[in-house]
Amino acid sequence: ETKGHTPPNPAHLQDRLAEEQAPLPEYTEIPAFINEPDTNPALEANQRWAEQAMARATPEWLATQPVPDTVTEADIDPLVERARAAAADWAARPAAERARILYRAADILAARRGHLISLAAAEVGKSVAQTDPEVSEAIDFARYYAHSALELERVDNARFTPDALVLVTPPWNFPLAIPFGGTVAALAAGAAVIHKPSNPTPHCSMALLEALWEAGVPREVLHGVYPFEGEAGKKLVSHDGIDRVILTGASETAALFRSWKPQMRINAETSGKNALIVTPAADRDLAVADLVNSAFGHAGQKCSAASLGILVGSVYSSERFRRQLVDAAKSLVVDWPTNLSATVGPLTEDPSEKLHRALTTLEPGESWLLEPQQLDETGKLWSPGIKTGVKPGSFFHLTEVFGPVLGLMEAKNLDEAIALQNQVDYGLTGGIHSLEVAEVSQWLEQVEVGNAYVNRGITGAIVQRQSFGGWKQSSVGLGSKAGGPNYVMLFGQWSDEVSIT
Ligand code: ALA
Repeated sequence: ETKGHTPPNPAHLQDRLAEEQAPLPEYTEIPAFINEPDTNPALEANQRWAEQAMARATPEWLATQPVPDTVTEADIDPLVERARAAAADWAARPAAERARILYRAADILAARRGHLISLAAAEVGKSVAQTDPEVSEAIDFARYYAHSALELERVDNARFTPDALVLVTPPWNFPLAIPFGGTVAALAAGAAVIHKPSNPTPHCSMALLEALWEAGVPREVLHGVYPFEGEAGKKLVSHDGIDRVILTGASETAALFRSWKPQMRINAETSGKNALIVTPAADRDLAVADLVNSAFGHAGQKCSAASLGILVGSVYSSERFRRQLVDAAKSLVVDWPTNLSATVGPLTEDPSEKLHRALTTLEPGESWLLEPQQLDETGKLWSPGIKTGVKPGSFFHLTEVFGPVLGLMEAKNLDEAIALQNQVDYGLTGGIHSLEVAEVSQWLEQVEVGNAYVNRGITGAIVQRQSFGGWKQSSVGLGSKAGGPNYVMLFGQWSDEVSIT
């Protein structure tokens, strides 16, 4: 989706090489929030910039980049104590000061966009095209939550006491936006943070922490820990000195955390099995493009990815629609990110048992419209797969597989399509393609997802416009959504001040 606004400085050409060398702005007051524009890949200067970013992203280069400190079980108590001791001073600072620091951190990320893109390519094989909007999103989170901090301070008749210490445990599939988002939300609220990167992405996390320290977040307020040795992880997660855990990951991880500490305050975004409905009233060309991009972007390794296409009536039986879908999927270039033309990259981890089953097995009633192929000996590059005839209640209907497979289901009418969509235990994203207002209204009324998208792809939520978070098994303890107006106020407790005078 286009962000539809002019970049902050209309005179600049979005020449990323030039931007990365420009001095950082100084703020006397906090500017109004606007979404950071993504890079314009049509500009020749930006193509050179992207080539440089990918040329740098070798394993040898990655090994020269810093990662957070390793901790052992014995380090946990002193770490928690130090962070808690630093929290009071951070919380006592005026919100405007925290906001200025977060704006500066956002500007540092903007000035290091190419470096961050190199790190994500080297660590998880993410392409320039996939990581570039992620950097914009990370920048947006810092600026948006800076405004949330200012708003918190303006609330009358109620007192907000931030958590002292928050543990942030992000995923590897969005190694910049999600780790940064959780961290800056907690900092905006006035909490100290311990940040534990996902195992494959310590370098991305360290670059984010460095930006925050350089911007002015005190070292004692923000800590990175990686990797854990021995029982250190369990000890940290279940520590009484951690007021809140922010997790984006598998439902199983949230359950494990809570088994370690049943009274844990946890806000977790956990998994999805997302469907896009296409009705006969759709713009079918648009639906094909959105299905393919939502299913296969980042090789389907997004909690928000489209895993199911629920095709209503004549759309399911249309030979032409199937052909278009297969042609569009075949037109994707599957390769490592060093090939700038690649639109589908590698799997980050070896396929899980579930993904392997989805890539290699047909369940009763299913057939391949496009059979996925393993493209090289690493086992990580797979061409997109599309299976049709997915049956209600089957493995593929109900299971998150997190990879480049799209399953098509038949629905006789919209009621049936919505029932199939709501039958899954998760409720993260969902979409409908229909130009019929009554259909769209019915769907919006009945669909059980946190992010309901109409006539658009179902990945790539934009901060402020589409706050992100799910229903049902897609969230644990999340009363609010990332990138939305109520997120920062989760990180603490409220007391109403009532006086009769
Ligand atoms: N926030 C990410 C998206 O919307 C996960 O795709």
